[in-house]
Amino acid sequence: MANRDIIRQLLEHFRRKDTRNAVVLTDENVERYYSGYFAELSGCVSMDKIVVPAGECSKSIETAIRIWQYLAEKQYDKNTFLLNFGGGMVCDLGGFVASTYKRGIPFANCPTTLLAMIDAGIGGKTGVDLQDLKNAVGTFYFPDIQLPADIILLQTLPDKEFRSGFGELVKYALIGSHELFQDLCKLESFKELKPEFLDFCIDFKQKIVKEDPLDHNLRHILNFGHTIGHAIESYYAELGDPIAHGLAVAQGLYYESLLSYKLGHLPQEEWLQIAEFLPKHFDIMPLSGELLEKLTYYMLNDKKNCNNLINFTLLDRIGHATPNFQIASDSLITFNH
Ligand code: GLY
Repeated sequence: MANRDIIRQLLEHFRRKDTRNAVVLTDENVERYYSGYFAELSGCVSMDKIVVPAGECSKSIETAIRIWQYLAEKQYDKNTFLLNFGGGMVCDLGGFVASTYKRGIPFANCPTTLLAMIDAGIGGKTGVDLQDLKNAVGTFYFPDIQLPADIILLQTLPDKEFRSGFGELVKYALIGSHELFQDLCKLESFKELKPEFLDFCIDFKQKIVKEDPLDHNLRHILNFGHTIGHAIESYYAELGDPIAHGLAVAQGLYYESLLSYKLGHLPQEEWLQIAEFLPKHFDIMPLSGELLEKLTYYMLNDKKNCNNLINFTLLDRIGHATPNFQIASDSLITFNH
């Protein structure tokens, strides 16, 4: 059953823009919800769907080419509306296709995972991977409507994905709200989320994106936990045993909080609260010498770096972060605590 607000906003938009065709992009896991969810729209526009295999493997230029070809064969014009119904992969891929097909067609994200609701589905970053290089090709392209999150969709979300989204949610608490962090500390399980928690993250991200839409400076605070998190993700991908994004980010949050403390930014008592909280919900792997060396290699290759220094966002306190510290890789030895 669809969220009334989502359907109302789409119908209003279609009427206002005289939309005749809407194409839903979804994956094999989410497809089964498609007809029930969007049934009401078919009274107003002609609906079509494109289904891609679930998982990161679909976030490729090859899939984008197949979608462009499909849209072209069906003679979809510039006013065709693309509706991305799925998690982060579908939102990133669909946004990329929308930004490039006929030099840009209107689109919206209807995210079905926690991670996409609070992060990937907001903010206009689109893209595909180039083999192991995540988001190596992409655009900034903003949805025509920002649809509200439908938390009912989370009822069927597998635990692993839920926990992964929770990793991103903890990030928002650490960089944006001491109060939210305190609320999260009271949770027995990460699945006890209240809608207000999601609302906070969505509002916070929207405000940051409004101030720095093209990711020049302030928006980098959203990368807290991601410098190390992305390195961990690449490490597992190379091992052939991929880790969910938010689970890698949670480990990044842990180690980047430790770094913030060791470099004198974060007070010790706040670091200790974080160090107690994160391992309750996430596996944090020890960063021993050889592994740290490997992760440092990935971090040095991050596109945000210059002069062989690694770009980090650091925490000043729980609820406040500062972006763009350039840190020498030697400082990371501090993780061997
Ligand atoms: N996920 C970080 C950003 O959208 O900037």
